[in-house]
Amino acid sequence: FSNITNKDDYKIKSAVDEAQKSVEKNSAYAIKLFDKILQKHPSSPRSLYGKALSLDYLADQRRSNDILQQALTYYTQLLNVQDVPNALFEMAAERSINRMRFVGQYRNAINVHKVEEARSVLKQILVKWPNDGFALVHYGFILKTTDNKLEEAIEYLQKGLETRAEGVVDGRFYFHLGDALARLGRNDDAMKVYEDGVKDKVFLSRYQRSLYNVPRLTGKPWWNLSDLPYLDLFRLLKQNWEKIRDEGLAVLNERGYFQDESENLKDTGDWKQFELFARGQKNAKNCKACPFTCSIVERISEARNCKRGQTKFSVMHPGTHVWPHCGPTNCRLRVHLGLRVPSKTFIRVADETRSWKEGEMFVFDDSFEHEVWHNGTELRLVLIVDVWHPELTAAEKRGLSPI
Ligand code: LMR
Ligand code: MN
Repeated sequence: FSNITNKDDYKIKSAVDEAQKSVEKNSAYAIKLFDKILQKHPSSPRSLYGKALSLDYLADQRRSNDILQQALTYYTQLLNVQDVPNALFEMAAERSINRMRFVGQYRNAINVHKVEEARSVLKQILVKWPNDGFALVHYGFILKTTDNKLEEAIEYLQKGLETRAEGVVDGRFYFHLGDALARLGRNDDAMKVYEDGVKDKVFLSRYQRSLYNVPRLTGKPWWNLSDLPYLDLFRLLKQNWEKIRDEGLAVLNERGYFQDESENLKDTGDWKQFELFARGQKNAKNCKACPFTCSIVERISEARNCKRGQTKFSVMHPGTHVWPHCGPTNCRLRVHLGLRVPSKTFIRVADETRSWKEGEMFVFDDSFEHEVWHNGTELRLVLIVDVWHPELTAAEKRGLSPI
């Protein structure tokens, strides 16, 4: 342990070595011992590392994400104290970033704390190892998804992907690199990234860039209603579209139901959604406001039980542009029912652009790149009903994780 023990730790080396012995076999006990040392020596590098590693093992034993988060906190603390021996720093940095890969949830920007923790570890690593591919892509990912710093994100993501290091060839990094390029108008560069992603088998095709897929499913941007086994749903929607429209419009006038689109997909304008079903769950509160529309969806199990989709009203105001984007999964198809459709509103899916018509439906696969414009003068309202991809088996539909 000599090359991981600094001057101060040397003075308490026997206690630290003793605690270290229990890290793997009796992690909870090791934590107690390290806590005792840390009370007197709060910035002892080896104790912080020992505690982090014990929590890390304990998280595995108990399959606990919370404990893993605590472990990451201690790794970060360690990386931030003075005078950490190089070898210890390297061990802690590699271990923590490795564990972060499994946590993965720092990508969920809602959890500011976790993002900041990841950011700080990644920065430390990049100071010491500026070419570490794993740290580069993850740091680029945070720059893109949390900070919206597109140019910087591109640099990190590109540099990281070029290393082709372990953990780097991951669809999320290609996805966001391409997206950042596209948003800066560099469409040819974006397409190249997407084509690389196809070669590296992270995307189904350059236009179909969903990351949670059942690979064998037929993928095409637009579907004919008559090719789908959902005629009951289509009939119900068509017969009742005015009543559905009126329910949607009534809710539109009330506060607190329609929510801003939250995934940073919008370029300009105003686009809100009102969710009735999501991940196969009914939103009871919202369905109270739209009982008729919900009752229709409830009659059709392919929509009601579509765990990888939603049913929602979507309202878009004039002057809105939605960036080209792909949904997360190829397991659903997306039905749009036009409810109020002014002119000059368009949706492009892959290479084909269409418009809505009031009282009519179309079906597209939103795992394909799509882009929306509202250049008209009045609001556009549609009902979106996601249905399972028709080629999924009953067992698959039961077994797939919700999205
Ligand atoms: C989308 O699914 O991204 C859009 O089609 C939604 C909408 O309201 O048009
Ligand atoms: Mn979409």
